Amino acid sequence: MRGSSSLFEPIRVGEQDLSSRIVLPPLTRSRATDTGLATSLMAQYYRQRSGAGLIIAEGTVVLPQATAYPRVPGIYSEEQVASWRPVVEAAKSNGSTMYCQLWHVGRQSHSSVQPDGLPPKAPSTVAITGQQYRSPGGPVPYEVPRELIEPDIAEIVDAFGRAARNALRAGFDGVELHGANGYLIEQFLDDGINLRTDKYGGSIANRMRFLEEVLQEVFEHVPPHRVGVRLSPSSDWMDAIDSDKRTLFSTVIRRLDECGLAYLHLVEPGIAGATSAEESSSAIPTSELAQLFTGPVIVTGGHTFHSAQELIDRGVADMVGFGRLFIANPDLPTRFAVGAPLQEVRKKGLYGGAAEGYTDYPSLAAEK
Ligand SMILES: Cc1cc2nc3c(=O)[nH]c(=O)nc-3n(C[C@H](O)[C@H](O)[C@H](O)COP(=O)(O)O)c2cc1C
Repeated sequence: MRGSSSLFEPIRVGEQDLSSRIVLPPLTRSRATDTGLATSLMAQYYRQRSGAGLIIAEGTVVLPQATAYPRVPGIYSEEQVASWRPVVEAAKSNGSTMYCQLWHVGRQSHSSVQPDGLPPKAPSTVAITGQQYRSPGGPVPYEVPRELIEPDIAEIVDAFGRAARNALRAGFDGVELHGANGYLIEQFLDDGINLRTDKYGGSIANRMRFLEEVLQEVFEHVPPHRVGVRLSPSSDWMDAIDSDKRTLFSTVIRRLDECGLAYLHLVEPGIAGATSAEESSSAIPTSELAQLFTGPVIVTGGHTFHSAQELIDRGVADMVGFGRLFIANPDLPTRFAVGAPLQEVRKKGLYGGAAEGYTDYPSLAAEK
């Protein structure tokens, strides 16, 4: 039964006790190397934020083809696994639990970063039209993706399983599947993106098949109670269009509830990827979807200390993620605890660069 806990109270997730319900949600910061290795700067960044009960590492790609942007970390090679170990150790140095967000961007990639130099692959040949790809030379139109054929799908499913196993080998406590923000898993779910007529398209059961295959493969390596899934049911960012999101995501969440997962992670309506946006009139209240899941629920998006506590008091969420607040306030839980003022996030250094805008936000102690 959810409700009436303090944000600072411990909670059991899977077989692990988290020290609080304060979550560092996945945040791409593009400080890995060009070959997707985690860096000592990343170790410093996560160590600074090690007061969170749960740390979910930034989107981490499962294959070279899975990326969209430079300097995003990977977890498919031995070298990458080794590079993560000191980062995970630093992040967990204060008793946090750390999950790795496993990511494949599908059609949100671009030929300029694909290993074969061709347009990215996706469920169907439907390009994103509402946004542009942020190439190093400036925004360019998204390309019409190539349609995934069945052996491609099998390769990606396998890669998720390997990445999950690698994540545990790197010291992560579990993995989160990135099923949000219009990336590959959601591209299969939405009927405005997935126009397939084979067993991966058409009915909701068919459109869920890719997610189910990924889960089954991941479960071969990581028990369900160490696996979370992230969804953004009310977001149409990156043309994540579906004719009936309420039915789609209710069905998906009911199915996920049968799997005995560590948690379900829901992004609030009113969030478009990494920014706040106007809530659409068809937004589905998070409370409605959260009640379909009996395990722990994390909710992220636009929350302050007070709104987060209210969400827990109302029984909507068990844990709350704070993205931009955690970027600007590395010691966010301490600041919450003492009611200290919060620093504002700066645009410079949000994606890429070095320490500026990444590890140079002072803690309360350093400010004094
Ligand atoms: C710089 C930045 C990078 C992000 N990268 C990711 C990511 O890798 N994976 C993901 O699921 N969400 C990502 N997000 C979305 C956040 O996890 C979160 O849902 C969003 O910032 C809303 O929460 P907030 O209002 O507390 O910031 C990113 C957001 C920001 C600001």
